[in-house]
Amino acid sequence: MASLFRFATGIATVLIGAAITSVTAQLTNITCPINYNWMTNSRLQNPCLVAAYLQSVCDSDPATSDIQLLPPDHHYILRKTAASNCTCNTVFYCVMSACTACQARDSLPWSGWSENCTYTFVSQYPKPIPEGTAIPAWAYYNITPLDRLNLTIAENIAHENLTDSTAIPVPSSTSFPSLPSTSPFEDRTNDTKTKNLGAIISGVIGGITLIAIISVTTVIWRRLRRLTVSKQCNMTTQVGTELSTESDIHDTLKDSEVKLYNPEDPSTFPRPDQIASSHIYQPNRYNGLAEL
Ligand SMILES: *[C@@H]1O[C@H](CO)[C@@H](O)[C@H](O)[C@H]1NC(C)=O
Ligand SMILES: *[C@@H]1O[C@H](CO)[C@@H](O)[C@H](O)[C@H]1NC(C)=O
Ligand SMILES: *[C@@H]1O[C@H](CO)[C@@H](O)[C@H](O)[C@H]1NC(C)=O
Ligand SMILES: *[C@@H]1O[C@H](CO)[C@@H](O)[C@H](O)[C@H]1NC(C)=O
Ligand SMILES: *[C@@H]1O[C@H](CO)[C@@H](O)[C@H](O)[C@H]1NC(C)=O
Repeated sequence: MASLFRFATGIATVLIGAAITSVTAQLTNITCPINYNWMTNSRLQNPCLVAAYLQSVCDSDPATSDIQLLPPDHHYILRKTAASNCTCNTVFYCVMSACTACQARDSLPWSGWSENCTYTFVSQYPKPIPEGTAIPAWAYYNITPLDRLNLTIAENIAHENLTDSTAIPVPSSTSFPSLPSTSPFEDRTNDTKTKNLGAIISGVIGGITLIAIISVTTVIWRRLRRLTVSKQCNMTTQVGTELSTESDIHDTLKDSEVKLYNPEDPSTFPRPDQIASSHIYQPNRYNGLAEL
C-alpha cells in the first residue's frame, strides 16, 4: 500500500462519474499516442472512450458520462458516488489504467481503486456491454496477482488478435427497464391484436358474402334449370317413343329367330313387313333368310 500513500499525499485527483459535468454524450477528448495503438478496440476506440461507454451503463444520465483528461500529477479515483458494478470490476479498471498509461500518468493499484466498492468482479464486466463499443481481450486478464495492469502482458494479449467482447444482440432483461420501449411494445401488441381482429372480421364478412352469392346463384340456377328441364322432358318423351319403336322391331325379329322356319307352317313364313324391316335394319339376316 506504499503506492497508495504516495498518491494520497499532496497529489491532486480527478474524479470520474457523478462529479463530472459535461455536455456531450459518453465521450472523451483524450487521444492516445500512436505507440499505444495496440490498446484500441476493433472499433478503433481508445481505452478512455471504451471506459466512458462502460461507465455510462450505470450512470443515471449516460449523456454526462465521459472521461476527462488528466492534468499532470493527477490520477483517477473512484468516489463512493461513482462506485457501481460498472466501475468496481477489473475490466473497467484495466481500460482506465490503459487510459491513464497512454496519458503518461500513474494509476492507483486495483486494491486502492476498489476501496469504495461494495461488490467487486474479477475478469468480468457484470453489466451488459453497451452497443457502440467493444472490450478488448487484454482487459479481461486477471490482474489481481500483481494488483495492477501490466502493460507488457496486456500488449502481448493484444497482439494475439483475439476477438473483442461486444454487446449480445438479444436484448437482456436488465436492459429493458431503462428503455422507454415498454409502451411502444404494448402498442405494437395492441396493434397486432387490432390487425388480427380486423383480419377475422373481414374474413367473416367475406365468408358471409361468398355464401350469399352462392345461395343466390344456386336459386337462380335451379329456377333456370327447372324451366329447361320441363322443356327437355317433352323432347325426351319424343326421343323415348322413337327408341321404343326401334326396339319393337328388334323384338319382332327375335321372335322370328326363335320360331324356326318351317315350310309346312305358314306362321313361320317371313311376313312381307318383317322382310322389309330386316332389310332396313339388318341386311345380312335378310340374305340368310332368303337362302333358306
Ligand atoms: C477536453 O475537454 C475539456 C472540457 O471537457 C476542455 O477543457 C479541454 O480543453 C479539452 N481538451 C482538448 C485537448 O481538446
Ligand atoms: C472513496 O470515496 C470518498 C468519498 O467519495 C473519497 O473521498 C475517497 O477518496 C474515495 N477513496 C478512494 C480510495 O478513492
Ligand atoms: C451488483 O452486483 C451484485 C452481485 O451480483 C448484486 O447483488 C447487486 O444487486 C448489483 N448492484 C446493482 C446496482 O445492480
Ligand atoms: C510485467 O510482466 C512482464 C512479463 O510477465 C514482467 O517481465 C514485468 O516485470 C512485469 N512488470 C511489472 C511492473 O510487474
Ligand atoms: C495479428 O494481426 C496482425 C495484423 O493483421 C499480424 O501482423 C499478426 O501476425 C497477427 N498476430 C497473430 C498472433 O495472429
